[in-house]
Amino acid sequence: MSLIEEISKRKTFAIISHPDAGKTTLTEKFLLFGGAIQVAGAVKSNKIKKTSTSDFMEIEKQRGISVATSVMAFEYNDKRVNILDTPGHKDFAEDTYRTLTAVDSVILVVDSVKGVEEQTQKLMEVCRMRNTPVIIFINKMDREGKDAFDLLEELEEKLNISTRPLSWPINQGSNFKGVYNLYKKELNLFETNKTQLADVVINITDLNSEQLTQHVSEKDAKKLREDAELIEGIYEPFDIDLYQSGLLAPVFFGSAINNFGVQELLETFLEIAPSPMSRQAIERPVLANEEALTGFVFKIHANLDPNHRDRIAFMRICSGKFERNKFYYHTRSGKKLKFANPTTFMANEKILTSEAYPGDVIGLYDSGNFKIGDTLTEGEKLQFKGIPSFSPEIFKELENRDPLKTKQLEKGISQLSEEGVAQLFIQEPGHRKIIGTVGDLQFEVIQFRLEHEYGAKCSFMPLKFYKAFWITCKDKKMLEQFMIRKAHAIASDKEGNPVFFAESEWNVTYAKQDFPDIEFHTISEFNGN
Ligand code: G4P
Repeated sequence: MSLIEEISKRKTFAIISHPDAGKTTLTEKFLLFGGAIQVAGAVKSNKIKKTSTSDFMEIEKQRGISVATSVMAFEYNDKRVNILDTPGHKDFAEDTYRTLTAVDSVILVVDSVKGVEEQTQKLMEVCRMRNTPVIIFINKMDREGKDAFDLLEELEEKLNISTRPLSWPINQGSNFKGVYNLYKKELNLFETNKTQLADVVINITDLNSEQLTQHVSEKDAKKLREDAELIEGIYEPFDIDLYQSGLLAPVFFGSAINNFGVQELLETFLEIAPSPMSRQAIERPVLANEEALTGFVFKIHANLDPNHRDRIAFMRICSGKFERNKFYYHTRSGKKLKFANPTTFMANEKILTSEAYPGDVIGLYDSGNFKIGDTLTEGEKLQFKGIPSFSPEIFKELENRDPLKTKQLEKGISQLSEEGVAQLFIQEPGHRKIIGTVGDLQFEVIQFRLEHEYGAKCSFMPLKFYKAFWITCKDKKMLEQFMIRKAHAIASDKEGNPVFFAESEWNVTYAKQDFPDIEFHTISEFNGN
């Protein structure tokens, strides 16, 4: 198969949702369709149970599961589907944000009862930043949820994106009868406890025909006809280009647990979702069909076994063909690296692979060469854009509890921050280490891993900062003045960029008034880096 054929076969995406909306259930149904698993329940939810936030072994176990389920690949209708898993727990949101840089599109699951929730909004903001195409699946239609039109309005308002329903529900909750697919003009009738995997669909091109009332009551048929007319009146016909540019989200309704509406979602997704296209490097855009290999690391996972210090770096292939045992150029260090045991992930299995194509994710065993964001090429000096750090929300100072193990602590914390477990900021004088995270769970992970993997002991002192801002200013003098005035709240990030820790929103407002030329960024991806 040619490179172009391999590329057009691939669909690389992530399923995202607020916890409990049904991401795991939907993933599992997709895998069932793909034949990647045979029974429901085979995919372990990679969410850390809310009740066991201080159970370290549980965290470790979960980390193990999340390696195994990091990527789930399967074939369906001659397409190669790569689902990139994202942690459900909100404390691992940074991990999810980074994974979103490695996908070509996203399916967002929304609970029909709860509507748009906090985490949904945050995830969508990240998708909007890079115009990632999004399909929305409104799940749990078997429950008494919000009105479908109200849900669409809520989606548009809270997610700041235009929507276009491609299927439409007939009632909901105990009275849920099914959906009418407005795109394919098919009626899909709801059955609970259905035994077969596939949906049974009835082709009804004209909703006004008698055919509809052979399957649903007069009352339901009347309502569906009215709703469909209203939809056609309000919404423009579905425009695939707008969807692929990330400006329009098609919406489907269904019930993942009942495997209802999942097949139509999967098949439409395969039809409309983009295959790998071009990716922006700082130097130039890189087309997927370029012959030379390029790829970037978006996730690093430490080995669970403390006797084996190697890590797995997850690389997304952006162009060309990856081959086992071939030398590639690590653009940050200038080193030539080759990989004897690259792995791909098929559902729950890791498999040794000898080649991979754009859109694929491979696991590379690494003894410390990789950092998140690193690029591999065949010799060209390139750096892919788009692994930003987001402003953390919780800050603590790291304190060394065993002075004899200072070196181990330094090494451990630097490696953990390279893996993206947390952000490390250094404050001078005194080389104080300030750890910033999005959730409390990370501090437990850091403490546990420093002790078990590096033999270092630490404790944390909470700091009363509200947010970190990367600061830039065209006027170097003003920046200097600001940094002197706010010395107690200035530190450097891992690249040496200056960061300002604000104690409150008010604190930032005043700083902006006093130093009008300084720009305060909540994402590290400013000035094009
Ligand atoms: P998540 O990964 O997004 O966190 O959600 P997950 O799939 O684990 O689903 C959360 C809960 O919602 C699960 O119930 C799941 O069974 C249920 N669920 C998923 N899809 C549907 C649906 O279409 N209708 C209804 N009514 N429920 C659905 P749980 O009780 O938390 O877990 P479990 O014991 O069923 O595994």
